[in-house]
Amino acid sequence: MKKILFVASEAVPFAASGGLGDVIGSLPVALKANDDKLDIRVIMPLYGTMDSSLREQLSFVTSTQVSLSWRRQYCGVYTYEHREVTYYFIDNEYYFKRSFLYGEFDDAERFAFFCKAVLEVMPIIDFFPDIMHSHDWQTALSVIYLQRKYRQKKRWADIKSVFTIHNIQYQGIYGFELLGDIFDLGANDEITLEYNGCINLLKGAVVCADLLTTVSPTYAKEILSPKFSHGLHFVLEQNKGKLFGILNGIDKEHYNPSRDKELFANYSFRSIDKKEVGKAELQKLLELPQSERTPVLAIISRLVEHKGLDLVTLAAEDILKEDVQIVILGKGDYYFESFFSGLAERYPEKVKTILEFNTVLAKRIYAGADMLLMPSKSEPCGLAQMIASRYGTVPIIHETGGLYDSIKDIDTESGGNGFTFSIYSAWDLLCSVKRAVSLYKDTVVWNELVKKIMLHDFSWKKSACEYTALYNKLKEDKF
Ligand code: GLC
Repeated sequence: MKKILFVASEAVPFAASGGLGDVIGSLPVALKANDDKLDIRVIMPLYGTMDSSLREQLSFVTSTQVSLSWRRQYCGVYTYEHREVTYYFIDNEYYFKRSFLYGEFDDAERFAFFCKAVLEVMPIIDFFPDIMHSHDWQTALSVIYLQRKYRQKKRWADIKSVFTIHNIQYQGIYGFELLGDIFDLGANDEITLEYNGCINLLKGAVVCADLLTTVSPTYAKEILSPKFSHGLHFVLEQNKGKLFGILNGIDKEHYNPSRDKELFANYSFRSIDKKEVGKAELQKLLELPQSERTPVLAIISRLVEHKGLDLVTLAAEDILKEDVQIVILGKGDYYFESFFSGLAERYPEKVKTILEFNTVLAKRIYAGADMLLMPSKSEPCGLAQMIASRYGTVPIIHETGGLYDSIKDIDTESGGNGFTFSIYSAWDLLCSVKRAVSLYKDTVVWNELVKKIMLHDFSWKKSACEYTALYNKLKEDKF
């Protein structure tokens, strides 16, 4: 039986701040469904923000002390079985009983402790994985510690490491004064971690991992170029022989319009007329006119620049000349929050802005809208376009990263599953929106498109097979 340990800083339903949480909450289940000989477990911090009803169900396994440079810190281990996957939680209230997952002054120390604990607790939980699969900069040190400190010890010697980059923008960059004092590393490790005169944890993991993956094939190519690499293209170019892009999937049961209890009305591709009920209820809830034939365009996103919202601000007035309604759900930069609030004030009959991270409302919008606007400047994978498709809401996307890999324009020869534009400009975005709005008027053709995208397979199945194949090759030393 092959043993895999996922190391991550978030997982649905225990803690999530974005797509990473969705992936860690669903990929292990899919891997297991694909290969029942896998013993796959997940390890993550025990945050104070965890829902108390879940927290009460965890069982205490043991506690130990973990040393990090001159410190010795308490480390509790809890466990919980969820959807046939075993989760371990690293407990230390000083580090993890905070109001937020990240963005704390001592994130470097918090996640260094977590990564050290991951390696230290393996003998205690009696789980030495064949493959340790770590995700994003917060867990980069688990890969670095394995390579620089633990491989020399017999029981850790055969563990292979996989490191997945979910977004290269976040790298864990710190000053060198942290090397010994916080990261518990020495002068010999400098060359591994150094980048542009700083410690760069992501760069260290890129160098130390046996295998690197990112979350779409196109993003795997994009990050080799300075336009997308946030400075790391040289290092990635040197390591591209071990870099693979695998598209994320979505949990088809969690996002299932025919069973989703959060929706106003359930429907499937056989009953898309019932999607109209959800649309009318959504319009009522958001105090927009209940106009059945006015297309509702949704933006469900963090309100930050790389999501392409600068294009939306430029094109908004022109889009609003059409007979459309726009619904914006999300939180983020002050500039975008105030722009979209202002737009809703100026167009109360056409625009509704809700500045929240609200998963229930998000599902109701996915179901009730007609189109999803996702013009990201760069997008490693993106999940919203896949979720929208599952709910029969047609994506309008900029051709980048995972958006390009998942959505093809309806004007392509083979017929696509959305509206796309390749040049990152407000004009091109506007043209795509106008094409969508114009096609929407032809109810028969539009309904065919809605049915088609609902049937598109965005499940984890294919990607799970690709991960399993990589794990197998790695185990057989084929890299
Ligand atoms: C990050 C990326 C997003 C991706 C998600 C899950 O949030 O920005 O594109 O879908 O990780 O891999």
